[in-house]
Order: sequence, then structure tokens, then C-alpha cells
Amino acid sequence: MNLKDCHNLEDFRKFAKKKLPSPIFNYIDGGSDDEVTLKRNTHSFNNCDLIPNVLSDVSNIDISTTVLGQKINFPLFLSPTAMHRLYHHHGEHATAKAAEKMGTMFGISTMATTSIEEIGKLTNAPKLFQLYIHKDKGLTDNLIERCRKAKFNSMCLTVDTVVAGNRERDYRTGFTTPPKLTLSSLLSFALHPSWTFNHFFNKKFELSNLIHMTQKGSSIERSVIDYINEQFDPSMNWKDAEYCVKKWGGPFALKGIMSVEDAKKAIDIGCTAIMISNHGGRQLDGSRSPFDQLAEIVDAVGDKIEVILDGGVRRGTHVLKALALGAKACSFGKGYLFALGAAGQQGVELILQKMKAEINRDMILMGCKSVKELNRSKIKFRKN
Ligand SMILES: Cc1cc2nc3c(=O)[nH]c(=O)nc-3n(C[C@H](O)[C@H](O)[C@H](O)COP(=O)(O)O)c2cc1C
Repeated sequence: MNLKDCHNLEDFRKFAKKKLPSPIFNYIDGGSDDEVTLKRNTHSFNNCDLIPNVLSDVSNIDISTTVLGQKINFPLFLSPTAMHRLYHHHGEHATAKAAEKMGTMFGISTMATTSIEEIGKLTNAPKLFQLYIHKDKGLTDNLIERCRKAKFNSMCLTVDTVVAGNRERDYRTGFTTPPKLTLSSLLSFALHPSWTFNHFFNKKFELSNLIHMTQKGSSIERSVIDYINEQFDPSMNWKDAEYCVKKWGGPFALKGIMSVEDAKKAIDIGCTAIMISNHGGRQLDGSRSPFDQLAEIVDAVGDKIEVILDGGVRRGTHVLKALALGAKACSFGKGYLFALGAAGQQGVELILQKMKAEINRDMILMGCKSVKELNRSKIKFRKN
């Protein structure tokens, strides 16, 4: 299998499965507990159908949108995800460059393997920094100030990860960060010599944004789950979130909002956006899917705050359905990480091209000239 066999996101997933050692692939691919929510996130898009209009002169269409104050060429951007150097030795460099080339926004995790400063120098494209609140409160101020200096455009605070989800695949595969050659993982690394060589003979694994602040941050050496449970602050509350919103003072989203009640509170503390998300099914298994919650939340707060749909997106039509319900844009994680693992920057560029082409073609087939024309009249839910 190679890149020319990758026609859609699922093909990239299969390719990544071949290219990556099993602990790494399964860390991207897996969810929590029984992975019910993980599956549901995508399946829920199938409960409704799009209703096209014909003869609408779609010779010129515009699929761009503006989200968190940034214009993006198409209404899908890269959710912040941790540790890109695990999936490809070029790490966040590859992802940032691909996003820049394709004209969309790149989300950078607190737990990135490239520093805020490096990313700032690398790309002028729209950059969203994702904040986790650690027990060490000084870290929050430090990260926000560094993002300001590095000219990041917007920030989000992830609020669904006060403890780590129960990711049983990681226990089974022996996933650690940085990866360790253990008896259980040895065979898998040996069967993927190219990944193994590139990983161990390139820049040392580190959580670059945390390295100066916490020894634990630079080298976890157990599991990411242990890191979250030891370092993240479970006492995080609305006051802390409000502090971050005010401290940043620019476009700010809460990531991981799932209820109308919390969406309203996000407005009260001054957020400009919410990302409806359950962390891609990696946290609370059995929670509803973002798409299933979207209409209710848009109806309650859609005129006061930007609503972003995060999770489960695998096709251009999924993006159209979310926009028809009132989302401003969608974001995705696993999709571009599979492409990163499969083929680095080239892979991420290609998946973004494919998703953009799907959105463009679907808009034409829907008879829509601009994303503003996607509304509730274009979508109908099935009665079981
Ligand atoms: C491997 C991996 C690492 C992730 N790391 C983070 C992270 O550091 N911070 C965060 O807020 N979300 C993180 N997420 C969640 C994504 O931002 C996003 O919410 C999720 O991937 C969306 O679902 P999707 O994968 O179905 O597109 C991660 C997801 C994956 C798959």
C-alpha cells in the first residue's frame, strides 16, 4: 500500500496501521472503555440525510469560512493533538506546514513535541493553542504569555480531561511515552524498522512546551495516562476558565462542551467559541456524540457564540451536515494523524486536499454557492 492507494480517510487509517508500530497506531485509533462513544461519534452523522437543490448555478462556489477570528479556505481545521513526533519524526513541523499550505488552522497541544516558539517561527498560518491546566498554576500564565509572544491567533482550554479516560488498548500494547523497547512491544518495533530507525535516531522525544517547567513534562517514561492523572488539576473550575479567557484577551474557545448549560456558562465567562467535543471518544465512554448534541446547543446559544463541531468527522458530507445544523466549522484529529503517521507532511497535505475536495464537490451537488446557504432546510432526520 502507498499514498496513491489512499482515496479517503479510512484508506489513510489502513496505511497508518501498516506503517506504525502497534502501540503507536492504537494510541491514535483507540477510545476509552468499550469505545462505544468513539464509534457513535461517526455513526451519528448517518441518522440524517442531506436534501439537495438543483439548477442553482454552482459554477462559482466559496467554501471558506471565518472561525476564532481567522479566515480558513474550507470549514475544517486540525484539532490540537499531543505528541506528533510519535507518529512521524518531523512531528508538528510536518502538520503545521501542511495546514499552512492548505490554508486552514492548526491546533497545537500543550503536550506538543515542538515548542510554541518554534511553531511561531515556522508558520504565519492561523494557529490555535490548546491549554491544559496543570496543578502548577504558574504554567498557565507562562504558556499564555509565550503564545502571545509567538503570535498565536487564538486559544482553547480543554475541559474534558481532568482525569485520563480508560484507554485499555494502551495497556494491552504497552504504550509508553517516550516509546520504550519492552518485551511486549519489541516485535512490533522490529516489524516497523523505518519508523523505529527514524524515531530513535532523530531529535529526542520531549514535551517541548513543558520541558523548562517540569521534569515530568520532558520525559514521562510511563504512560500519558499517568502523566495526566499526576499533573492535571482536577479542581479546575469556571473561575479558572474565566481567568484564562481574560488573561489571553483574544479569541478563546472551551473545548469539550457537551451541554446547553455549560455552553451558556461559556458565554458568561467571555468565550468567543465552544468546541462541542468528547475528545474523540477518548474520555467518558457512553457520553453522547458531538453531532447528536449540536442542534440543541446551536438553538440555545448559536446567535451569541461560535459553535465548532469536533469529533467523528470522516467525510465531507459530515462537515456539510454539521454546518447545516449551525456549526461555524468542524475540526478533526484522528484523520490527519493517520495521514501524518502514514506519510508525514505529504500525507497531511493529501488528506486535507481530499477532505477539501469532498466538501467542495458535496457543496456543488447540494446546490450551495456558499457555506452560509447550508441551513436546516438542507437536512432531515430519519424517524428510526
Ligand atoms: C492521538 C490523539 C491525541 C490527542 N491529544 C489531544 C490533546 O493533547 N489535547 C486536546 O485537547 N485534545 C486532544 N485530542 C483530541 C482531539 O483534539 C479531538 O478532540 C479529537 O481527535 C476529535 O475526534 P476525531 O479524532 O474523531 O476527529 C487528541 C486526539 C488524539 C486522537
